[in-house]
Amino acid sequence: MIVFDKVWFSYNTQQVLKDVSFSINENERVAILGGSGEGKTTILKLILGIVRPDSGEIVIDGENITSKTEEDLREVRMKFSIVFQEGALFDSLNVKENVAFCLREYSKLSEDEIDRKVREILRIVDVEHAMELMTDELSGGMHRRVAIARSLAASEPRMFLYDEATTGLDPINADNICRLILDLCKNGKGLVIVTHKVLDAIKVANRFMFLKEGMIIFDGDRDKLLHSTVSEIQMFISELNI
Ligand SMILES: Nc1ncnc2c1ncn2[C@@H]1O[C@H](COP(=O)(O)OP(=O)(O)OP(=O)(O)O)[C@@H](O)[C@H]1O
Ligand SMILES: [Mg+2]
Repeated sequence: MIVFDKVWFSYNTQQVLKDVSFSINENERVAILGGSGEGKTTILKLILGIVRPDSGEIVIDGENITSKTEEDLREVRMKFSIVFQEGALFDSLNVKENVAFCLREYSKLSEDEIDRKVREILRIVDVEHAMELMTDELSGGMHRRVAIARSLAASEPRMFLYDEATTGLDPINADNICRLILDLCKNGKGLVIVTHKVLDAIKVANRFMFLKEGMIIFDGDRDKLLHSTVSEIQMFISELNI
């Protein structure tokens, strides 16, 4: 579903990704780990065609998206449900309107159907009770749930993409979000989560990549991750206390 073939990427003079290659199947649950500023968010932006590689190819669902037009990229983006790091809710709209906005934008549903769908989605992420609240009245965990709800409203996703879905949440809320993430893909859909929180990554993913200095220095399952002798990875997993 997602193939990176020798991808190089830089912002102006700053080289962010160096010769990154990997292939992710539609039903895999993958966590891309790495420190701050290593290029995790950039990888998600490349998958969605928000930024383009300097060289190399990115193939989504068999199609090379590297030179696609904005119009064609819209179709590519519809294949994914994406929750960005910032959550990006509209401050001026309440919870219900935030979710409805995407349905109005991307679907041809009637207002009645939109209302029904919004309630259904809010029930899935368990914030139905907060439907009328403004976004600044939400706790961090609720805010994250609404952001996930919004991403669900946007499309019938083939895969889920999450950027630091649990960062900034207390352990209980983070755990709840992990459960929600797993629940949403229990019918076999895959996900890519980029995060520096290995504890949460281990809860939702079964394949792990580690990004360091623009390169993928590790790609393997949980067992291989936990027994890695790479010192950076050992530092990351030391937070697990096992
Ligand atoms: N729009 C931009 N213009 C210039 N440089 C950028 C831009 N976005 C990101 N960068 C730089 O590119 C590098 C990779 O950024 P990216 O956001 O992908 O990192 P990240 O791994 O997601 O970090 P974090 O864990 O802090 O979210 C960073 O050094 C960042 O400062
Ligand atoms: Mg980031």
